[in-house]
Amino acid sequence: MELSAAQALWEPSTVYLNTASYGLPPRPAFEALSTALDDWRHGRTSWEIWGHSTESSRALFADLMGTNVDDIAIGTTVSEFTGMIANSLPAGAEVVVPDMEFTSNLFPYFTHTDRGVTVKTVPTSDVAEAIGPSTTAVAFSAVQSSSGEVADLDAIEKAAAEHDVLTIVDATQGCGWLPMDATRFDFLVVHGYKWLMSPRGTAFLYVSPQLRDRIRPVSAGWYAGEDVHSSYYGPPLRLAESARRFDRSPAWFSWVGTQPSLELIGSVGVEVINEHNVRLANLFREKMNLGPGNSAIVSVEMPDASTDLERLGIQAASRAGNLRVSFHIYNTEADVDALFDAIAP
Ligand SMILES: Cc1ncc(COP(=O)(O)O)c(C=O)c1O
Repeated sequence: MELSAAQALWEPSTVYLNTASYGLPPRPAFEALSTALDDWRHGRTSWEIWGHSTESSRALFADLMGTNVDDIAIGTTVSEFTGMIANSLPAGAEVVVPDMEFTSNLFPYFTHTDRGVTVKTVPTSDVAEAIGPSTTAVAFSAVQSSSGEVADLDAIEKAAAEHDVLTIVDATQGCGWLPMDATRFDFLVVHGYKWLMSPRGTAFLYVSPQLRDRIRPVSAGWYAGEDVHSSYYGPPLRLAESARRFDRSPAWFSWVGTQPSLELIGSVGVEVINEHNVRLANLFREKMNLGPGNSAIVSVEMPDASTDLERLGIQAASRAGNLRVSFHIYNTEADVDALFDAIAP
């Protein structure tokens, strides 16, 4: 679908520049969710119908990230997946993490300090250099959530390969607009409620097939069974061979709202969305006399501006003392103009 045609599927009643907080659903996602809620209310269907959305979403996400569907687990948050990975790190492991990392990819490692896990925090720009012979894992965001800085994926991947270091990437702020190949990394985790424009409660984990046996599926339940429907009761343990063994039981309604958004992103294409989002971000940067960037998120030194903007019908965020604006598929040049007119001195 053409991006301009896709834009007709959103009806924001504000100038919405806050996808880095949560994304807006396209009409098919909202309608699918509304129908499911109505069916739930009136007892019109069995849950298996909602379950199909979970499996379709898994396949659509695998396509988006260039992976095999067998390497994708589904869950509800980033932190539960990073927590599971942290739990499987050996005692005494050293984890390198950027000092401004979103805590869902930081706190889980700190919770293992009692068994000798150390967390070495460094400035985002120094992550690749900080990887050395004593490093076990590097955990970082593909796109930093407050500044929008895109990590130097090539440099980190290279340094990690040189020292045989595990790579744990949080792509929550990139997946949906930044073209990425998950198979370059050992683990890649994404929550869908921002750039994948899904309800909160749908997260994905890519696990490199070589590492599947090194991760303990600590939260396995019926949905992680090889055959879900014969895994309701009793022993023995019969987990899926694939990365489904790391699944959390699905939050049904959230998945119903996720599938149509993933379909739409796949149909428009991440490269096209990237070009659109970064172009709008750079139009705004130009107006603000900032050099061009490579991100859909722009952060400017205007500490309290988001509250004033909200009064003018413009949704943005305050993060790390700055104004943060983010541009996605449904934004237009008119939004950039409205923002600039509102904050221009
Ligand atoms: C980079 C990043 N990761 C993860 C999350 C959400 O984490 P969780 O799924 O643990 O709530 C956010 C939310 O702002 C984020 O910006």
